[in-house]
Amino acid sequence: MSDQFKKLAAERAADDVTSGMKLGIGTGSTAEFFVHALAKRVADGLDVIGVPTSERTRELAESLGIRLTTLDELPELDLTVDGADELDPQLSLIKGGGGALLREKIVAGASAQMIVIADGSKEVATLGKFPLPIEVVPFGLETTRRAILQVLEDMELPLELALRGGTEQPYLTDGGHYILDAHLQQIADPGTLADRLVAIPGVVEHGLFLELATKAYVAGTDGVKTVLPI
Ligand code: A5P
Repeated sequence: MSDQFKKLAAERAADDVTSGMKLGIGTGSTAEFFVHALAKRVADGLDVIGVPTSERTRELAESLGIRLTTLDELPELDLTVDGADELDPQLSLIKGGGGALLREKIVAGASAQMIVIADGSKEVATLGKFPLPIEVVPFGLETTRRAILQVLEDMELPLELALRGGTEQPYLTDGGHYILDAHLQQIADPGTLADRLVAIPGVVEHGLFLELATKAYVAGTDGVKTVLPI
């Protein structure tokens, strides 16, 4: 069922794309539906160029005949379409469940507009049920982990951090970094948490996407609704 909703939201976003657009192309299962919908429109003559947010997305988009480039060639984009793990009524997001948060945030930040595509299960009143991914450099992992725990303690958040993939074989991002997933339950002040996390030297990025999304298409049994940030 949720796949059907993801597809509906993705197809709605693909309808918003117009010829000549420079696009950021997201990562994850919902974004994959978008890539397929976009590829159909490209086959019908839509002329767009895209910057993928992961190697996975690059391979898929390339295989479907979507013209791609890099941010070095095209540093400013018109629109990014991407999924999310959670979205709240301000359109603040948790992203990075699929591990591509760093490139996703760079690409979204380079875009004039960002449309989030999601099924209704991703909507929350307060972010935090979905574990917050924090991308860190492998060097000094324990020091960085402790610094993050200190921030969580200061903010009276649960001290639950898990190295994605486990210590034997940690998950590696496209940038060669590790991910610590923070199980926070409820993030009352995402802005302060975001600022404090990026101030830690070993933290590369985190999955809080604040003031980046300009619109969301959320699909459920009643069809696709448009959500604008309140
Ligand atoms: C990838 O790193 C993520 O940010 C995804 O956008 C997010 O996890 C949503 O993925 P699904 O569309 O697969 O739920």
